[in-house]
Amino acid sequence: MQKPVVSQNKAVAEQQNFFHEIEKGLLAESASISPKFLYNPLGSHLFTAITLLPEYYPTSTEKTILSQYKSEIAEAVGHVTTLIDLGAGNCQKAESLFDFLKPSRYMAIDFSEEYLRDALENLRSKYPQIHMQCLGMDFSHKLILPETIPIDGRVFFYPGSSIGNFLTTEAQILLTQIKQQAGDGGLLIGVDLMKQDHTLKAAYDDDLKITAAFNLNILRSVNSIIGSNFNVSQFRHQVMVNHSQNRVELYLEALEDLSVSWPENFRFFKKGELIHTENSHKYTIDSIKKLLVDAGFKSTKIWKDPKDYFAVIYAN
Ligand code: TRP
Repeated sequence: MQKPVVSQNKAVAEQQNFFHEIEKGLLAESASISPKFLYNPLGSHLFTAITLLPEYYPTSTEKTILSQYKSEIAEAVGHVTTLIDLGAGNCQKAESLFDFLKPSRYMAIDFSEEYLRDALENLRSKYPQIHMQCLGMDFSHKLILPETIPIDGRVFFYPGSSIGNFLTTEAQILLTQIKQQAGDGGLLIGVDLMKQDHTLKAAYDDDLKITAAFNLNILRSVNSIIGSNFNVSQFRHQVMVNHSQNRVELYLEALEDLSVSWPENFRFFKKGELIHTENSHKYTIDSIKKLLVDAGFKSTKIWKDPKDYFAVIYAN
């Protein structure tokens, strides 16, 4: 395959960047694939299915906290001009805030723009009074908002403990960028708290094997981006709780010796060799507060569930 060196076309340029990013991860001694490639159209639907699983407590717990404390949250947040949804997915979480945060604008940002567009289409007809925009963007490297968003009353919404998918150093950079762009507004964030292994393992390896399908689907997503020939049936989903790093680690394990090739390159995997796909860091109230303060936030308000599984925080 001929790869153009310079391209004026954004989509092609992104595809090229992704090609190199994926290739680099696959050729590293400890192979990895960036979790953003989990969210192709099928992956986004599988993730929505995960959020409906009883084992996957983060989504339901966060939802309960948001609904139980909605008046306190609305009071802490104050006036909202634009609700900026980071990783909007199916936009359902943000929708649940509309009735009590009452934003006049809604900006949905997600890596998978295709999925986002459909979701927003439905939402627009339900809430004609809210000005809605969507943006397909990979904010894991840099968060750049369109200049058309007024600086006043910006409230960022970062639910689902997606912050946990970054290394602490990266999380720090993202939170700092959010603070810098929040003006007089703030950040409403959902954070998963450290808990017992069995609860974590069940959440990341459910009995219906939907999480396994979600993780394995990244190989098909990669096949379609770089033209590789991963065979999903040669791998299995693997979960490890890493206590020294306070995180759940997700892998795909090779079930046999195998080789994977793509234009101009290949990688050999030995039986048992792992491809790392995701880290999900679990915080304590103290560790997340420190991260927010270090990012420049001056104050935090915290709401939790009775089991202390999850925290919703407004920082400004
Ligand atoms: N952000 C989610 C989390 O860390 C993503 C996720 C859930 C995930 N289950 C997964 C990622 C399984 C990879 C594999 O909770």
